[in-house]
Amino acid sequence: MTQDELKQLVARAAIDYVETDTVIGVGTGSTANYFIDALADIKHRINGTVASSEASAQRLKKHGIPVLDLNSAGDISVYIDGADEADRHLRLTKGGGGALTREKIVAAASAKFVCIADSSKLVDVLGKFPLPIEVIPIARSYVARQVVKLGGNPVWRENFVTDNGNVILDVHNLTITDPRELEANLNNIAGVVTNGLFALRPADILLLGSEDGVKTLNR
Ligand code: 5RP
Repeated sequence: MTQDELKQLVARAAIDYVETDTVIGVGTGSTANYFIDALADIKHRINGTVASSEASAQRLKKHGIPVLDLNSAGDISVYIDGADEADRHLRLTKGGGGALTREKIVAAASAKFVCIADSSKLVDVLGKFPLPIEVIPIARSYVARQVVKLGGNPVWRENFVTDNGNVILDVHNLTITDPRELEANLNNIAGVVTNGLFALRPADILLLGSEDGVKTLNR
């Protein structure tokens, strides 16, 4: 199977975690897009969605799936989203698509977080995939210098603006042995909106699409 076929397989499996008559959180990226397409088939079963990006909101609306504002959505039963990397403790790096801040907010606001990915995303140690940090534009150079002091090599994602009007630094050369500590330390730098580590609030369930089918990892 191709990587896209594995993403589609795992996205369809996530439909089992959609609870009837609730609002669900929907992530961003190619795996989340496959989930949105599968969700269209059961859209009558849910009360609506909260999207983690403008792109996902557009795709949901195109399928006729209601998109709600988080401030008025009430409880979110489950958040379903992809990842760039996941470890066996279900700690993740996310933000390859630049939607990390809204993803982190919707994940935090959801009772359960189901991460969906093809099995190539499972790693022993996070950090090979460059870690995205969303930064207030005037703080870009300052934040980059602080990141260098932490041992990273930050690269400005040029010609990219987040849905929140900010910029992204992709941090290369990190071996993330303590993801919770690094997540907190990066968030403490003035000018950082958030970073793509999901370790303080990891996934609750990780569904991995592989040649042998869908594997389920629980925290
Ligand atoms: C977007 C994300 C995505 O979940 C992550 O980049 C994985 O994307 P894909 O499903 O396309 O492999 O965090 O900000």
